Amino acid sequence: MTEQQNNWKQLIQEKVSRRNFLRGMSVMGAGAAAAVALPAGVLQAAAPALVAAAAAKAQAGLAFSPIAPSTTDDIVLPEGFSYQIIIKRGDVFTKDGKTFGDNADWTGWFPIDMLEGGSSTEEGLLVVNNEYVNSLLVSNYSGEGDKTVDQINAEKNAIGFAVVHLRKVDGLWTVVTDSDYGRRFDGRTPIALSGPVAGTTVVGGATEVIGTLGNCSGGMTPWMTGLSCEENYQDYYGEDSLNEQNPAQGWQADAANVQPPEHFGWVVEIDPFTGVAKKRTALGRFRHENVAIGIGKSGKVVAYMGDDKRDEVVYKFISEAIYDASNREANLDILDSGTLYAADFSKGVWIPVVWEGNEETLGDPSKVGGYTLTSQADVLTYAAQAARALGATRTDRPEDIEIHPETGDVYIAFTNNSAHGNFHGQITRLIETDGDHESLEFGWDIFAVGGPQSGFSSPDNLIFDGAGNLWMVTDISSSSINKGIYQFQGNNSLFMLPTNGENAGKAFQFASGPLDCELTGPTWLGNDTLFLAVQHPGENSASLEELTSHWPEGGDAQPRSGVVAIVGPFNNA
Ligand code: FEO
Ligand code: CA
Ligand code: CA
Ligand code: CA
Repeated sequence: MTEQQNNWKQLIQEKVSRRNFLRGMSVMGAGAAAAVALPAGVLQAAAPALVAAAAAKAQAGLAFSPIAPSTTDDIVLPEGFSYQIIIKRGDVFTKDGKTFGDNADWTGWFPIDMLEGGSSTEEGLLVVNNEYVNSLLVSNYSGEGDKTVDQINAEKNAIGFAVVHLRKVDGLWTVVTDSDYGRRFDGRTPIALSGPVAGTTVVGGATEVIGTLGNCSGGMTPWMTGLSCEENYQDYYGEDSLNEQNPAQGWQADAANVQPPEHFGWVVEIDPFTGVAKKRTALGRFRHENVAIGIGKSGKVVAYMGDDKRDEVVYKFISEAIYDASNREANLDILDSGTLYAADFSKGVWIPVVWEGNEETLGDPSKVGGYTLTSQADVLTYAAQAARALGATRTDRPEDIEIHPETGDVYIAFTNNSAHGNFHGQITRLIETDGDHESLEFGWDIFAVGGPQSGFSSPDNLIFDGAGNLWMVTDISSSSINKGIYQFQGNNSLFMLPTNGENAGKAFQFASGPLDCELTGPTWLGNDTLFLAVQHPGENSASLEELTSHWPEGGDAQPRSGVVAIVGPFNNA
């Protein structure tokens, strides 16, 4: 297979034209009625982005009337839905007075009674990632000169992830600030390094590291822990310790507390009930977006993961041990042993990313970006270089991956890659052979294509509802939002896409976020509540005097990222 044949852009173009052809056939077979109801996608390039809301609702059998794109500085929702702010940057949420960090991303709900088999929707622990900080708002850094140690510490305190104890009182969510569970894991928290890389040379022998960084999206495990994913770690201490670095966040000004880059870029597993957190090195080190867990036919745990960087690849990890549904304790370290694989989309195979048997290729620095790899620990630490050298397909920034609750198909959001001329992204569907997550062969197709014809651009976090509909938030970057080819969508938004029936793959807009924000971290709570994070509102503000958003407090207030609960008649059980 040549590099040309394993070229993502070419593979996508082939799938899109094949999809066109198949659609054309089905329309001819089913007659004119089917043509009217065709799902959004390449065939509807000339159609308007949104038909009249009421007509769309009736046509699609939706529980809501889709909204129009908006540039309002608020969360805009369909009629009958409303939102409550749960927690926002700066709110005290622990009994020792710690405040909630900036730029909330992933949220995971742990019912307070779940260890006893309960599923409370009235009280629980919400684990929330705080991906990064807006320095203007968090440390009041003007952009001139070095940051002070105090400014750097303020930023370290506002990043990482939080365990927030929530309780519903008289129908409204309240933070239980005197809880024993409330905790923050931030840029200065000691966290164990676990699995095959722990204690090895490539991490300086460390079995514990200082801090967690770039925690973007995440995932829930069937054994009731959370997985928080370190994504853009390179901004803090650099990409690696082998090359000269100039990380963007300016924390190197606090020279006494600079940490090795190899201590970041991992998946952190958190048990919110005990506060035990471990970086799981067997899952590889790269810019982790999220983790979606499936159980294979033999009972092994399979973790799907994307490396959200231009031209990087899709991975999965298969555990060595079998998942034990009847014994939570037995699974708590199951992610420490297993095999990491990377996807070759041209052949439809999963490639083991392993040192053994690949010593000649992986031991040649010219094939692995100049790195000198000599062990499996090195391979896991520089996983992207190894995966590429072994033939994994370089793709267009894989963001969230989620598994369809009924079909088991693996949906992957490829957000965009302007370097390849892919400006609006796609959602693809990976179908494992025999429907087995442990399979090493797969097929794939395209589920939805971003662009003006479908109404959305730059898909990011995904979540299925109980009826099998896919909910998707978008991440058009702050530098592009409401401009040029991205103007059609307005602010970043939340869409619902049915996965079967005549509207499969068609995007219906449910919500629009405040100015400059990205909506992140959707999590269902029962049948009538959706937790959602509002990340980086007002990110384009040039100074505290020229703020571009005042969400949520309005007036002249600073924008505050945070988490909301959207309530209404979703009816999607
Ligand atoms: Fe932090 Fe890939 O988004
Ligand atoms: Ca983000
Ligand atoms: Ca993301
Ligand atoms: Ca993103």
